[in-house]
Amino acid sequence: MRLLNASGCLDALTAPEVARSLDAFVTKTVTPLPREGNLPVRIAETEVGMLNAIGLANPGVAAFVADHLPRLAELGVPLWVSIGGFSVEDYAHVAERLGDREEIEALELNLSCPNVEEVPENVSEVVAAVQEVTPKPLYAKLSAAVADLGATARAAEGAGADGLSLVNTVRGLTLDERTLRPVLARGSGGLSGPAMRPIALAAVHTCFEETRLPIVGMGGVATGRHALELIAAGATDVAVGTALFSDPGAAPRIRSELEAELAAFGFVNADNAIGAAHASGEDTLDQRSRLHPEKSLHMGLKLSG
Ligand SMILES: Cc1cc2nc3c(=O)[nH]c(=O)nc-3n(C[C@H](O)[C@H](O)[C@H](O)COP(=O)(O)O)c2cc1C
Repeated sequence: MRLLNASGCLDALTAPEVARSLDAFVTKTVTPLPREGNLPVRIAETEVGMLNAIGLANPGVAAFVADHLPRLAELGVPLWVSIGGFSVEDYAHVAERLGDREEIEALELNLSCPNVEEVPENVSEVVAAVQEVTPKPLYAKLSAAVADLGATARAAEGAGADGLSLVNTVRGLTLDERTLRPVLARGSGGLSGPAMRPIALAAVHTCFEETRLPIVGMGGVATGRHALELIAAGATDVAVGTALFSDPGAAPRIRSELEAELAAFGFVNADNAIGAAHASGEDTLDQRSRLHPEKSLHMGLKLSG
């Protein structure tokens, strides 16, 4: 089990020690061209979590490769780059620009941002197109807010994804208590934090049954118990997002809490707890096969040739 940050929830260049406390750092989503993102107000708190409408603000792939990537590589933490766009060609373009960079361990395809108007045409088309242009392991990041998540996950798997990242935020709205106008300038935004936990658990549980892919589980993780529950639902790895804003030291704390939780349940390690929530108790060999995807994450190579 690796502990990662959720994309967009940590700036590794301003908080390098926090990035170093993770097993891998995931960048904010990079698009072909620079984006300013949405106008402020872009972040709001609610009783059950946080709303954001950042709108994929990022420097664009050229500046990312020239400026950010070399500095991120100096952190000495395995790097995952999240990539996004508005067409199949956008994703393929960004992946191609990044594809041969040794500093990058894996690519995460953000197929699910609720804060931009345009949506990628089709999950399987994007995954297939990116797969053509890069040897890197590909994680498809999906939203729980799709008509049939199991079918979407199977489509990603069929197109060649090496893993799933579950889940992105879901659209929410909060109103100013005095004016009754939306707090966020854009109106609605992506809901993250505690409210996402049951949604993330259901998504991971579904995709564990519907695919053979390793899953990075995320959504409201703030304690070792939350991480354990995602693992039991079927996550191979876990990412922490919103919790990092209030507790930058969350990663080492969650790790040690998870150790204690695993011991209390009698699990030798986190890998032994993968899928424990599933009634039929899939045999452990089957679970293990998810831990060894065809492409080695550490070498970024296709071992199957
Ligand atoms: C401020 C903010 C910015 C985010 N930016 C991105 C992003 O650029 N790309 C992406 O795939 N997800 C983005 N996300 C979604 C998170 O990666 C994660 O999927 C979601 O917040 C659920 O995890 P959490 O409840 O632990 O935050 C963002 C979330 C927040 C709160």
